[in-house]
Amino acid sequence: AGLLPFEHEPYHRYSDPTVAEAQRAAFRSVREQHVGRTLPLIIGGREEHGDGTTAVRNPADTRETVWYAQNATPDQLERAVQAATDAFEEWRYSDPLQRASIFKRAATLLRARRLEFNAVMTLENGKNWTEADGEVAESVDHFEVFAREALRWAQGKPVAPMPDEHVTTVYEPLGVVACISPWNFPSAIPLGMALGAIAAGNTVIWKPAPETPLSSYLLVELLFEAGLPRGVIQFLTGTNDVLGDPLVDHPRVRMIAFTGSKAVGCRIYERAARVQPGQTWLKRVIAEMGGKDPTVVCADADVDAAALGIVQAAFGYSGQKCSACSRVIAEADVYDDLLEKVVSLTRTLRGGLPEDNADLGPVIHERSAERIMAALAGKHGDARLVLGGDRPDTGERTGGYVSPTILADVAPGDSLFQEELFGPVLTFTRAESWEHAIALANDSEYGLTASFYSRDPAKIAAARQRMHVGNLYVNRKCTGALSGTHAFGGYGMSGTNAKVGGPDYLFWFLQTKTIAQRY
Ligand code: NAD
Ligand code: ALA
Repeated sequence: AGLLPFEHEPYHRYSDPTVAEAQRAAFRSVREQHVGRTLPLIIGGREEHGDGTTAVRNPADTRETVWYAQNATPDQLERAVQAATDAFEEWRYSDPLQRASIFKRAATLLRARRLEFNAVMTLENGKNWTEADGEVAESVDHFEVFAREALRWAQGKPVAPMPDEHVTTVYEPLGVVACISPWNFPSAIPLGMALGAIAAGNTVIWKPAPETPLSSYLLVELLFEAGLPRGVIQFLTGTNDVLGDPLVDHPRVRMIAFTGSKAVGCRIYERAARVQPGQTWLKRVIAEMGGKDPTVVCADADVDAAALGIVQAAFGYSGQKCSACSRVIAEADVYDDLLEKVVSLTRTLRGGLPEDNADLGPVIHERSAERIMAALAGKHGDARLVLGGDRPDTGERTGGYVSPTILADVAPGDSLFQEELFGPVLTFTRAESWEHAIALANDSEYGLTASFYSRDPAKIAAARQRMHVGNLYVNRKCTGALSGTHAFGGYGMSGTNAKVGGPDYLFWFLQTKTIAQRY
């Protein structure tokens, strides 16, 4: 059975002045409520202070500190694992209908507070209104999807019958799941991992990225308000020396659900393989990592549609999505025309403050901007800089602002073609044929998303078979997967292909028991 149908959460129409004013009011209210506050840790349902705090800065103007998060201590990590272990003994037997009802109620609560959650995200990670709104809408969808999935997996699966035995296959939870998330999707990504764990009957240590704790904290509070027993989630913020390796290595953590960079994902995968003293299981790891996502444009494609999809996917949230288009590979017949169209559309993008819903804001850190500039400065053969390549003047405002950058004639062996830059940088590479374009698209250690533009059914059929990615989009942009529809997760070094929002995701958080009973 597939997912029972539900309606995807619609996006806000900010072109309506009333809606735009409501979003501005939400910023004022969030600033009044939250700026300057220090978030607590939550362990065993109780709020705690840590040892010092970490300041969260507004990436759009890093002179502004928006709020603070606690730094958990090793003792607090230990107690959080214990609290999650204790809570598991009850939550594991909870009624899936209860879990589903909590998620449905949480969906209702979040729907009513979307503009506030959007504003919090913008102030933490610099997404503009539209991008933040899309992500919070995805979080509402996750609640709907996981409510259905909790019920579906509770039904077990049919087996071949026996005349003298009653045989059932049932799915049971694993234990304590550490959910470790990145800053670029601080709502939908940790929520998807945590709901996967909780829907299956596990308990959670929720460890958000240090840059974006409030988007996560508000979701945890919302789940408690919706009726989730408070021991089921431990909310820990702090530094990687306490919450990195020690959390991953902990012998009573049963599973790690990670989304983030390839470097950290690989480190977690390796460390979790080591059986620690006192550990009585092999840890499970899901690790969803980076991308170097291509858009292939064939000679017969609708070039205008391709140009629009490329610009949206490459420069939305300044290219800081694992799904962002960073490589265009086009057949020679359309290459120059496409390049011109992409450049001219990119020139129309308005740089400025995410809080004013500008098209292009900053990258997350000043050091990220410097890393991107250093990568551009290297030697890149015959590559031509067509647009950007510099940092705009933002006056007194401090932040990692990078101009949208387009390079043409980038060779496949070039680092700009191979390495994830995670910023507003797009490369163009010419292909000799559409088959050559597919081969170039696949010339990457990653395999997360890709777009393929063509009107020819035979080429599309070949692309469907040969493109080595977890999410292939034909004649549309490669960002914006919808929970419950576009199960999300990649091939190769993009990760374990756990496919959040899809029909098999919960299986990762479960173990299977076969029971054969004679009467
Ligand atoms: P990151 O790997 O630096 O950090 C991710 C999380 O891991 C953070 O919470 C961080 O504190 C934590 N962490 C750091 N060191 C750790 C350690 N040793 N052990 C355990 N946890 C540790 O990634 P980021 O900069 O926050 O996010 C950007 C990256 O995430 C990009 O590479 C992007 O492609 C990737 N990403 C992938 C997906 C996907 O679904 N495939 C989605 C979003 C982002
Ligand atoms: N799930 C996000 C997207 O599809 C990353 O763009």
